[in-house]
Amino acid sequence: ALERTFSILKPDATERNLTGAINDVIEKAGLRIVAQKRVRMTREQAETFYGVHRERPFFAELVAFMTAAPVVVQVLEGEGAIARYREVMGATNPANAAEGTIRKLFARSVQENSVHGSDAPETAQVEIAQFFAGNEIVG
Ligand code: CMP
Repeated sequence: ALERTFSILKPDATERNLTGAINDVIEKAGLRIVAQKRVRMTREQAETFYGVHRERPFFAELVAFMTAAPVVVQVLEGEGAIARYREVMGATNPANAAEGTIRKLFARSVQENSVHGSDAPETAQVEIAQFFAGNEIVG
């Protein structure tokens, strides 16, 4: 089915001027960027977004990283977009990411792993709604 997923191009990607290169991989994979904006996440936004990881040892460092520089938030649309984007991103740890994936190509570490993508339809809906109003998504 035609799905939408939420994507973030993280600070390590914006800092290295890689947003176009990553969007090229996304579009060549058949995903359509139906919403996109560059934002500097506030601490509150990052803590809410990663709320599920609040108890993890890396939480504070993750929030600091995500708020240290701008990110690009996006909505991607396509057939099975959630699973498709996870394939295109590659494993969370770039050391385990397959050839040709965004994280294999660009990520620096398990934290500075260049991109985020939703893991399920329910989280996609919540994540999209945190950053985009309905009329900002143009399919
Ligand atoms: P993401 O897919 O956005 O979901 C949670 C993020 O936490 C993850 O990508 C990484 O940026 C970060 N992360 C996950 N595991 C670790 C870890 N072991 N150490 C530091 N950061 C991590």
